Amino acid sequence: MKFNKKICLGIESTAHTFGVGIVDFEGKVYSIVNDIYVPEKGGLHPVQVKEQHVNHFYEVIEKALSEANFSIRDIDLIAFSQSPGLGPVLKIGALVARMISQILKIPIVGVNHCVAHIEIGRLMCNVEDPLTLYVSGGNTIVSAFESSRYQIFGETLDLPIGNMIDSFARDAGLSHPGGPKIEKLALTSTKYLSLPYVVKGMDLSFSGLYTAAKKLIESKDFGVKYSLNDVSNSVQETCFAMLTEVTERALAHTEKTEVLLTGGVAANKRLQEMIEYISNEHNAKFAAVPLKFAGDNGAMIGWTGILRYKLEGGHEISETNIKPKERMDQITIPWRS
Ligand code: ATP
Ligand code: FE2
Repeated sequence: MKFNKKICLGIESTAHTFGVGIVDFEGKVYSIVNDIYVPEKGGLHPVQVKEQHVNHFYEVIEKALSEANFSIRDIDLIAFSQSPGLGPVLKIGALVARMISQILKIPIVGVNHCVAHIEIGRLMCNVEDPLTLYVSGGNTIVSAFESSRYQIFGETLDLPIGNMIDSFARDAGLSHPGGPKIEKLALTSTKYLSLPYVVKGMDLSFSGLYTAAKKLIESKDFGVKYSLNDVSNSVQETCFAMLTEVTERALAHTEKTEVLLTGGVAANKRLQEMIEYISNEHNAKFAAVPLKFAGDNGAMIGWTGILRYKLEGGHEISETNIKPKERMDQITIPWRS
């Protein structure tokens, strides 16, 4: 018997994760399944990630359907991450989505990945109109909804925050992803070593901080005058203070009454504590996206696809080409206007 609610299958494929989420049109999530590419060493190589996604997409879809107790024939809508991301990797998700849409003759919707991080946060945290700090491996963005778009108030000028922390962790001999390991190490240190703090207007720069932190662990004083725990603590305190400063200024400027922390780095308890502190100072409600939905996942793509579909219907197949460089402030958000 066909399920009586409409169902969307969302596909995330912008970087390391090939993720599938099954969501209904009222926002209930039935399953989230991820296959994550982990590089043996170094950063993400788009061709290797693409190979992994090509080899695993079918089992991820099958598992997501079986965990949700649906068959592929129950799906009413297919959504996929259309932008931004690594071109060869985005193409796999787009191809799989187009294939399913054409075989099953169901509508298809392309989704901006950054918007999806915000929308899943609004859904899961029950916030309406937040100032959002979106921090992940590939993005560092302070944004809020204004004039039909998610406007960007501040962003990184060079390295994204998660990428910077992961690179430092890799230099320190820690495996990917480094973020959670650095957080754990930092917990046992109260020592602060001075590192470059670079905020330019509303934008941030982390490359000087990264180089200085790397120098600290290569120095002859490392392991003598200070430990990896101390450097980890100093890296976190510096970069999170920079994020907090910019978020606070955007909050004062926009006068929003909610603050949302999202993206993979939102899992960090110290960052949560700092952003919660300034939210309280401005009498704004603070919410961090639950861990399961903070990192890349197909449910956020599915839910954002549903929001657009309800207002505008599906995309034509000719409109489903990938847009690796599309910024989230380039697109309108009709469901909020
Ligand atoms: P995007 O494509 O949106 O940039 P992404 O591909 O980086 O996202 P996410 O799953 O959103 O994927 O984020 C992964 C990042 O989150 C990694 O850099 C990882 O180190 C970081 N991270 C995860 N947990 C923590 C933590 N506890 N503290 C700091 N960073 C963390
Ligand atoms: Fe992401």
